[in-house]
Amino acid sequence: MSDDPKPQRYASWTAGKIPLPELREMKRRGEKIVMVTAYDAPGGRLADAAGIDLVLVGDSSGMVVHGRESTVAVSLDEILFMTQWVTRGAKRPLVVADMPFGSYEISDEQAVANAVRLVKEGGADAVKLERGGTSVERARAIAAAGIPVMGHVGLTPQTATVLGGFKAQGRTAERARGLLADARALEAAGCFAIVLEAVPPAVARTVTQALSVPTIGIGAGPDTDGQVLVWHDMLGYYEGRAPRFVKRYADLGAVITDALERFADDVRSGVFPEQQHTYAMPDEEAAAFEAGVRPQSRRR
Ligand code: KIV
Repeated sequence: MSDDPKPQRYASWTAGKIPLPELREMKRRGEKIVMVTAYDAPGGRLADAAGIDLVLVGDSSGMVVHGRESTVAVSLDEILFMTQWVTRGAKRPLVVADMPFGSYEISDEQAVANAVRLVKEGGADAVKLERGGTSVERARAIAAAGIPVMGHVGLTPQTATVLGGFKAQGRTAERARGLLADARALEAAGCFAIVLEAVPPAVARTVTQALSVPTIGIGAGPDTDGQVLVWHDMLGYYEGRAPRFVKRYADLGAVITDALERFADDVRSGVFPEQQHTYAMPDEEAAAFEAGVRPQSRRR
């Protein structure tokens, strides 16, 4: 580690956390923003150690961690607990907690109350919600309450049924215009960044150029201001079929299966545990213990 605690990448770095305005500065300087999801303390710690800028406690947990078919059933309490765990590990990155489906749709009051819980009880630095439309007003209310809020347009998994499934979005001029309008409305409502999911690169580029806040792409091509991937997808720790936009940087599933098989072999063959895995006891104590134990009478 260098003696100088100031990472040179952040011009306005002070101490500890990445300052939120730094993200807009990174966009201005043309420096890419890196975001990854995490769902527990080790994940947060590893993301921090790897120099990740933003950690998202995503409701993708519903699928990759809890094995559900979609993100719809994820509860606020699940996100709350995971945010507490992640923030214990991720000290320097900004931690963004996803607002799950049903936690912000009903009213501005509901949205603000739940965002406050994620920040106060969960320790999140910011929250994220999906879609344009009524979510724009919710984003405005959350931002007005002093909570940084991130938007998310394009493929919005919470409403995938309405979109006809987990499909790319904005593939016609009309739909792309709608997507741009949603992104602009979210920026005007006070969002500090916007996720663009599963949209053609040309659309993502135009939206990125049209906004002064950063865009974070996932399946949106190379021209967004940053990129995000889901932990289990990028690390090969998910048995389902990963979307086409995922690049696998590791094959943890295979590593873990191999380790478990070797453990099982060692246990079955008596190779594990060895002396080094056990605790010592003075010989006289062991002898006294054994002398005091009456052998069990044999059953006939
Ligand atoms: O829940 C999640 O992980 C997300 C990302 C795909 C951006 O929303």
